[in-house]
Amino acid sequence: MRVLSGIQPTGPFHWGNYFGAIRQYIQLQDEADQAFYFLANLHALTTIRQREQLWEQTLEAATELVALGLDPDRATLFVQSDVPEVSELCWLLMTGTPMGLLERCHAYKEKKARGLPADAGLFTYPVLMAADILAYDSDTVPVGEDQVQHIEVCRDLAASFNHQFGEVFVLPKAKVLDTSARVPGTDGEKMSKSYGNTLAVFEEPGPLKKQVMRIVTDSRPMEEPKEPEGDHLYQLFSLFADQAQQEELAATYRRGGFGYGEVKKRLAALAADFFAEARQRRDELKAKPATIREILGDGAAAARRKAAEVLRRAQEACGVKPPKGPR
Ligand code: ADP
Ligand code: TRP
Repeated sequence: MRVLSGIQPTGPFHWGNYFGAIRQYIQLQDEADQAFYFLANLHALTTIRQREQLWEQTLEAATELVALGLDPDRATLFVQSDVPEVSELCWLLMTGTPMGLLERCHAYKEKKARGLPADAGLFTYPVLMAADILAYDSDTVPVGEDQVQHIEVCRDLAASFNHQFGEVFVLPKAKVLDTSARVPGTDGEKMSKSYGNTLAVFEEPGPLKKQVMRIVTDSRPMEEPKEPEGDHLYQLFSLFADQAQQEELAATYRRGGFGYGEVKKRLAALAADFFAEARQRRDELKAKPATIREILGDGAAAARRKAAEVLRRAQEACGVKPPKGPR
């Protein structure tokens, strides 16, 4: 299994990112024969237009991933733009990509439907994503539900290129991340940066507690028994609690006569504890910024070796480089 995934460095990681994506990436680094993970800064450029912000967030995201357990000895971690072969491959794929296929892709379609101006970067976003995947002969792409359409586009483009020019690309499959890990935000909706309802993984215990105390709950009286299933505070608590702690809280809910404030305090303490080691590792990494730069440098070199090989194959197949053997 050759695993690859990209994550946009659009801000500090939140609990949804960790339980919905990052935790699986870390698990897969052991199960896969090879795992490539990258910070999709070229994709992020379609939304972030401040250079300091983009660059700092890219380094910060890399630091956070390593602090959370992404191990550079077991997985290749790199920055998307450090592999220029991908952008070249993107062009080869772009020729031959039907406009209609991209017009149906949701990011562009939604922006257009809202009457917002879209640029060519957003329009061709799925082609760059296809190049990201195909450049490393990846066969397994762990992603959230929202990215499945893009993997389908990637398969279409790869199949059509192979059909015209010979067997160049490996067709990848999406591995949809455990959807039971859909983490609710402080307002009970899906936790997302775009909704402003996030709880950050690397928040310090003090401010974290304040934010957790602000989680919206219903206003039923304390005495009333409550059903834990479907309650977002209970769901958040369950992310960090062990089986016994979950069962105990479920029983408390059903018994009634408890205050949400108590539950929130316990949740804040559990979460702070859960990420304590990662926070410490992040502080250590930040104190030695050369470490992360070295990890990304080594990662980019390894990624480039593979991408150069695949790009060459594609270039020879379509005739922009001389054919290798006799034809
Ligand atoms: P955001 O919605 O905050 O902008 P992204 O779209 O950048 O987050 O998500 C990055 C990864 O984290 C994706 O793989 C996505 O599926 C996952 N993810 C984001 N929010 C959640 C959530 N609330 N629950 C589970 N997974 C999530
Ligand atoms: N578009 C993905 C997201 O927003 C990030 C991404 C870029 C990606 N290239 C990729 C994910 C290749 C998987 C494979 O989440």
